[in-house]
Amino acid sequence: MGHLEAVVFANNSSPKELFDNYFYLNRHIYFHVLAASTTLVRGMDQEMLISLGVPLLDKLLPKGIWRNSFVLIAGEGGTGKTYILQQIAASILQRGEPVIYLALDDDPADIIASLELRGIELKRFLEEGRLVFIDGYGGRYGYETEAPVAERLRSLDIHAAVSTITRVLDSNKVSNKGAIILDSLNPFFQWHDTNMVYDFVNMLRILVAKKRNIPVFATLHTPTQLYADIAATMEYMVDVFIVTRYHAAAMEAGYSVKEILVKKARGVPVAYGWVPFMITDKGLEEVRIRVRLPGQATASGQQ
Ligand SMILES: Nc1ncnc2c1ncn2[C@@H]1O[C@H](COP(=O)(O)OP(=O)(O)OP(=O)(O)O)[C@@H](O)[C@H]1O
Ligand SMILES: [Mg+2]
Repeated sequence: MGHLEAVVFANNSSPKELFDNYFYLNRHIYFHVLAASTTLVRGMDQEMLISLGVPLLDKLLPKGIWRNSFVLIAGEGGTGKTYILQQIAASILQRGEPVIYLALDDDPADIIASLELRGIELKRFLEEGRLVFIDGYGGRYGYETEAPVAERLRSLDIHAAVSTITRVLDSNKVSNKGAIILDSLNPFFQWHDTNMVYDFVNMLRILVAKKRNIPVFATLHTPTQLYADIAATMEYMVDVFIVTRYHAAAMEAGYSVKEILVKKARGVPVAYGWVPFMITDKGLEEVRIRVRLPGQATASGQQ
């Protein structure tokens, strides 16, 4: 994979901060090497492992994930969680498997438009019934999306949501393949006691991921400490926990650089460490951040 380079002018950084930056850069490269040389325990059923089909994620999860995983992507608003989920959905569709998309944050019509803008032709998948939307965006307010949707959530009742999802899976004969996309969990947290939503996540993990062997990919925005605490609690419940955030120094310098960390992935090797990336017309692109000290002509002397 090629690398973009963002040169960050570190006028406001102390030497200590710069050192920390270099240290973590070296450390994540080190972990990449470590993960690339890690092999899975022999005897595991390779068919149960799936790749996410998104180059940066495949680098972070070099052997993929177990198909029966509940995957949570948590992070600040605008750090690319939805974009990442949609890239995963597109790759699953492109390899011939079905995707059930539970849309809570966006109108399914806008999701379709946004994917098509990226050159992902969805019409065929919709016609084949391989991309199936459950509308949890406007349905509960009586707003009718223009997109074809299989079901509408009329409320955020957790049991109703689980039975809608399992009904859609069963009527489309989806098991041992495909994926559920759930973007995002936040409306459930706004409506219910947190323990109820943890139970919802557990129900999906058991009834969808484990019982039907279908991976669930969900997002959680963490705008406040409360949500950061919720994410920390969910970290131990889920099988794969991915975090996104802004790269503060690069953002300060005017570059829209984000960072991703696969914090945990049950039973598979992970390339640990924060990896800076940008969203470009090529997709998720890894970025190397070089910090240029004030008064320095080039950044090369800093490596
Ligand atoms: N096709 C695209 N090309 C370039 N940049 C894009 C594209 N799609 C999204 N982005 C960038 O990704 C950023 C946000 O991505 P996304 O909506 O995935 O974030 P998010 O983490 O889901 O945010 P939220 O928590 O608000 O839902 C946007 O600021 C936008 O600039
Ligand atoms: Mg989003």
